[in-house]
Amino acid sequence: MPIHPSRREFLSISLAGAAAAMGAPALAGSRQPSGQKGLNILILGGTGFIGPEQVEAARARGHTVTLFNRGRREKAKGGMFPDVEKLYGNRDPEKFADDPEPTGPKGLESLKGRQWDVVIDNSGYVPRITRASAELLAPNVKQYIFISTVSVYASHDTPGADEDAPLGTMADPTVETMGASFENYGPLKALCEQSIEAALPGRTTIIRPGYIVGPNDPTDRFTYWPVRLDRGGEVLVPGMPEDPVQVIDARDLGAWAILMAERGTTGIFNAVGPGQRLPMKGMIDECRKATSAASTLTWVDSKFLEGLPPAQQASFPIWTPSEGEYAGFGLRSNARAVAAGLTFRPTAETARDTLAWFKTLPAERQAALKAGPSAEAEAAILASWHESQKK
Ligand SMILES: NC(=O)c1ccc[n+]([C@@H]2O[C@H](COP(=O)([O-])OP(=O)(O)OC[C@H]3O[C@@H](n4cnc5c(N)ncnc54)[C@H](OP(=O)(O)O)[C@@H]3O)[C@@H](O)[C@H]2O)c1
Repeated sequence: MPIHPSRREFLSISLAGAAAAMGAPALAGSRQPSGQKGLNILILGGTGFIGPEQVEAARARGHTVTLFNRGRREKAKGGMFPDVEKLYGNRDPEKFADDPEPTGPKGLESLKGRQWDVVIDNSGYVPRITRASAELLAPNVKQYIFISTVSVYASHDTPGADEDAPLGTMADPTVETMGASFENYGPLKALCEQSIEAALPGRTTIIRPGYIVGPNDPTDRFTYWPVRLDRGGEVLVPGMPEDPVQVIDARDLGAWAILMAERGTTGIFNAVGPGQRLPMKGMIDECRKATSAASTLTWVDSKFLEGLPPAQQASFPIWTPSEGEYAGFGLRSNARAVAAGLTFRPTAETARDTLAWFKTLPAERQAALKAGPSAEAEAAILASWHESQKK
């Protein structure tokens, strides 16, 4: 069965910026927070979307941070965290920071001979590459936190599935490309998890987020909704009001990663939110709180959307029809993560801050939302829908 557009989008945009680039028991152990001394934390990455939230959370808690990356995004953003130590190189031991130019620091060289309490790996997508960093760092860190994804799971058809659900596999685990439909992304991340656990048995924390959202999200997936509602008028909402969705604010994810470091908590955790079931209507209502624009909602049946002619096909971000192979996509269990201290801010707060952030962006960027249908495309689908309802 072809991958659903929203699901494909989840996979493809989760990979944004990644092109370059266990099965362990949960809660295997906990290092008690000393409350005395800050940790030395190495972040592999740190300058994209989720990394900066980890940096902020770590510094707010009195920890010392070192960033390792190629320096590209930092440069593109005009500099970041001037008072944080930066080490440059490339996750791929065979490449240089300036790849494809063979200049600048090579591979993981700049990490050699250094020690940290904890490493947080945001930028691992290929097991050969995560194995290299895990084996290099194993003698030099106490804990390895790996940011994985719920895409590791073989299926999404079971509501309430937890971290013990079967993982996706690949016929050829040496393949390093993501595949035409990004079908290798999840299985590759699963192999990355296993490569890290093999190098640091019992010292790994595997965090599997779903949609990560909030201010600075480069994908516009969640952002589409508060922005669209802020435009007002008749808003097309796909599916049924009760269709479940799951999102996690990058700030909550960042703070929790630091808590896991402070507590030395190891194991595997689904980092999906919020705390209770979030129906699509609930998410829309929360987003509406971010705007005073007048809007009406028109719910359009998923079968109708799927049956639209190719020219009218559109993808509505975050939402996935809650049936068949996606019946569990918005209902994955987060019980383990919540028990390990993961908390969620109100979705309305995420929507408010996301809209406020979006409005600070240059006009041309605001005019080019990266997710959801254009105003014209939405209007055309609404017209078709209303026409169909007359029959
Ligand atoms: N977005 C979502 O909804 C979602 C959902 C589930 C899971 N995830 C996971 O979230 C993680 C990505 O988050 P993020 O991009 O926001 O993390 P980030 O740590 O904020 O940014 C990615 C970092 O990796 C660095 N990097 C990229 N390629 C590199 C290389 N070859 N060598 C060294 N450094 C490299 C980038 O800097 P340079 O480019 O300057 O090197 C940047 O600092 C991934 O693990 C992804 O699977 C995301």
